[in-house]
Amino acid sequence: MAAMLVTGGTGKLGTPTVAALRAAGHNVRVLSRRTGDGLTTGNLLTGEGVAAALAGVNTVLHLATGRNDVGASRTLVAEARQAGIRHLVFMSIVGVDAIPLGYYRQKLAIEELVSGSGIPHTILRATQFHNLVAGVFRAQRFLPVLLAPTFSVQPIDVHEVAARLVELATTDAAGRVPDIGGPEQRTGRDLARAWRDATGSRRRIAPLRLPGATFAALTAGHNMVSGAPYGHRTFEEFLAGAGAARRHPTGPPRAHAVRWRIGRFLPGSARKRAYPGNSPSNGIEVTR
Ligand SMILES: NC(=O)c1ccc[n+]([C@@H]2O[C@H](COP(=O)([O-])OP(=O)(O)OC[C@H]3O[C@@H](n4cnc5c(N)ncnc54)[C@H](OP(=O)(O)O)[C@@H]3O)[C@@H](O)[C@H]2O)c1
Repeated sequence: MAAMLVTGGTGKLGTPTVAALRAAGHNVRVLSRRTGDGLTTGNLLTGEGVAAALAGVNTVLHLATGRNDVGASRTLVAEARQAGIRHLVFMSIVGVDAIPLGYYRQKLAIEELVSGSGIPHTILRATQFHNLVAGVFRAQRFLPVLLAPTFSVQPIDVHEVAARLVELATTDAAGRVPDIGGPEQRTGRDLARAWRDATGSRRRIAPLRLPGATFAALTAGHNMVSGAPYGHRTFEEFLAGAGAARRHPTGPPRAHAVRWRIGRFLPGSARKRAYPGNSPSNGIEVTR
């Protein structure tokens, strides 16, 4: 059976995507800058290992994100063309063409790169993941108040995005497919309240409103999908699952928790040095 390659297969979205593809019986390679069991080592920024990772592959799911995503994607597309890849699936974000964030501009440039590559492709845009929204609140844990943006978001569960990616990767290339979003469009304040309830925090919620075109585009709702929602799992359900994970920790002892959280953002090699034999998980963590 021809293999599939998942870039970003060790990430928050990649992990459930790889698991779902493997559960469906596909032969999946996971591209990672790291070495380890089940990983195919390669770096999209340097190009190292990418051609070898693509040998014998039919379908590529491109979920990786990091530094210089456009440069990394250019390398992948050039090597994929060379390797005769038959289907390239790219994960993008709802509103990349309407919200002038630097990261979104990069995603749009990659969409254009993929659609102009001559490789049969599928482009899926999704709204923000639940764990990104939780991360925004978690990152404020040292502030006296909980800042809640005044715009709304429509968070979606990564497992539901992963399921859609599996459907798309195992059927014919379809170009840009309909955007997907979570079950509810919720105000920042409402989500902050849900996060506060789930974590037991008592901090006051303060509205965060910023000037500028990006905030205006978010306030106009360009980050959300109209019509019937795709996702089913609510933010509260996500938080309840994450809370259960916290009550039964599999990670390091509490004393190391802060260092551990910081470690998740270190590049692979530094993370390996900091946590020999036991790197920070990509799991969800809800911290008061
Ligand atoms: N977060 C959201 O709310 C959201 C919403 C919609 C769409 N998306 C998109 O979904 C995708 C996945 O996001 P995520 O949150 O799951 O990402 P993530 O957890 O930050 O994972 C990033 C992945 O990229 C890989 N990577 C980074 N640089 C690399 C390089 N130079 N060469 C090879 N691999 C590299 C990492 O692999 P190693 O560390 O193992 O090398 C890791 O698996 C992204 O394209 C993102 O833009 C995200």
